[in-house]
Amino acid sequence: MELRSAIESRRSIRKYKSDKIDNEIILEIIKEATHAASGHNRQPWKVKIVNDLEKEKIANTLYEKFKDVKGHTAPHTASVIREIPNLVVVYLDSDDERFREIDILSIGGMIDEILLLAEEKEIGTLWIANTNLIKDEIKNITNVNLETISCIGFGLKDQFPSKRPRKDFSDIVINN
Ligand SMILES: Cc1cc2nc3c(=O)[nH]c(=O)nc-3n(C[C@H](O)[C@H](O)[C@H](O)COP(=O)(O)O)c2cc1C
Repeated sequence: MELRSAIESRRSIRKYKSDKIDNEIILEIIKEATHAASGHNRQPWKVKIVNDLEKEKIANTLYEKFKDVKGHTAPHTASVIREIPNLVVVYLDSDDERFREIDILSIGGMIDEILLLAEEKEIGTLWIANTNLIKDEIKNITNVNLETISCIGFGLKDQFPSKRPRKDFSDIVINN
């Protein structure tokens, strides 16, 4: 699949077949994505493929914390996480405040490459940041003493959503 097709066909997938993706394949994708640009070439990322128990604890913790908050999307994300075959936590591998913004931007870029590389292999993904609402809990659950920046779900797609709306391009480009 060409890059352009992957960019156009990628969607956030929230329904997956139950089959797991081999961790080796996920690691291969992440390794490729480490070619991503990063501010000062700091490569400020670390990742962990969590096991089923850790995944369940993340989903339950997120659900319990927000289940009574009316209109919050976190409980829905929690129920999606429960059904996601593979979950990766992406951590910030630095506590240097001077680079915080540039590091988080860099991690975002790298995650986007992961999503596109997975799409190229027809693997569905979901970029998840609602899990940042339980950063401290994720440290304990995953036994990694680093700040969570995002999670990424992986699996075989069991839905093929049509393109979600995008702003009109003329509302994006400033001409003054
Ligand atoms: C930084 C970021 C955080 C996101 N967090 C969540 C999340 O916590 N739960 C969720 O279901 N989707 C999450 N998404 C997916 C977005 O909702 C999705 O990208 C957006 O609605 C556009 O849909 P598309 O990805 O199918 O084009 C996140 C996406 C990004 C880029």
